[in-house]
Amino acid sequence: MNIHVELPENKEEISVRIDEAKEIRSIVEKNNLNKCLEVGLAYGMSANYILSASSTVRLTSLDPFQKSDYNNLGLANIQQNGYSDRHIHIDKLSSIALPEMLSAGEKFDFVFIDGDHKFEAALMDFIYAAELVEIGGFIVVDDLWMRALQLVKEYVKRNRPDFQEVKLNSVNLFAFKKISEDQRDGMFFREFYTRKGFLKYHLNRLAWEDKTVFGKLIKQVKNIVRGR
Ligand SMILES: C[S@@+](CC[C@H](N)C(=O)[O-])C[C@H]1O[C@@H](n2cnc3c(N)ncnc32)[C@H](O)[C@@H]1O
Repeated sequence: MNIHVELPENKEEISVRIDEAKEIRSIVEKNNLNKCLEVGLAYGMSANYILSASSTVRLTSLDPFQKSDYNNLGLANIQQNGYSDRHIHIDKLSSIALPEMLSAGEKFDFVFIDGDHKFEAALMDFIYAAELVEIGGFIVVDDLWMRALQLVKEYVKRNRPDFQEVKLNSVNLFAFKKISEDQRDGMFFREFYTRKGFLKYHLNRLAWEDKTVFGKLIKQVKNIVRGR
């Protein structure tokens, strides 16, 4: 299937990569997920791939900056690919729209989170998504390269027995399947911040920034270990 997503020059990094978009689509397709929700539309890369998974997919996107920051290009890309009749755009912050959807009793099979990437914002998106998604449904989150998102993933792994991690090919996405209702008591807490996670992230960061002598050294060691 031919999907065309027009992006302004030098703005490619805002969107999910094509291989990530394809992996997101394949989760929707393989699991027959129809009612989909996305936080963060931007130029519509992930939205178009989700909508292309099947002619029965319906997608709601939340993004209050579509007009001001993206000149409505995400919506134009969806229209160009012929998906507008299966797409709803809500021009609101997720912190406003998600609780509204919850109180309206809405339910989804699939939620993709790629909006505000601050720790508390992404965690809040996950917490609402966890309420909105049906048992058997999936939540996928982008940008695992960021420490804030790594911590959101660790929180879910250790604190949400109602979710099971789904292994993905993309190292920059993570996914969880809802397997039961939330049965934790009100005192439940498992530590999710670890020194190992902190060290791993900061050593990796020094290596990919490649600016300091120590960073260059770590990069070399990593390349030797990987046989490059
Ligand atoms: C990384 S971009 C999304 C890329 C998009 N998923 C794609 O693949 O093309 C992040 C988007 O989240 C939107 N955003 C930022 N904060 C938000 C919030 N609090 N609620 C909803 N959307 C938000 C931004 O306007 C931006 O369009």
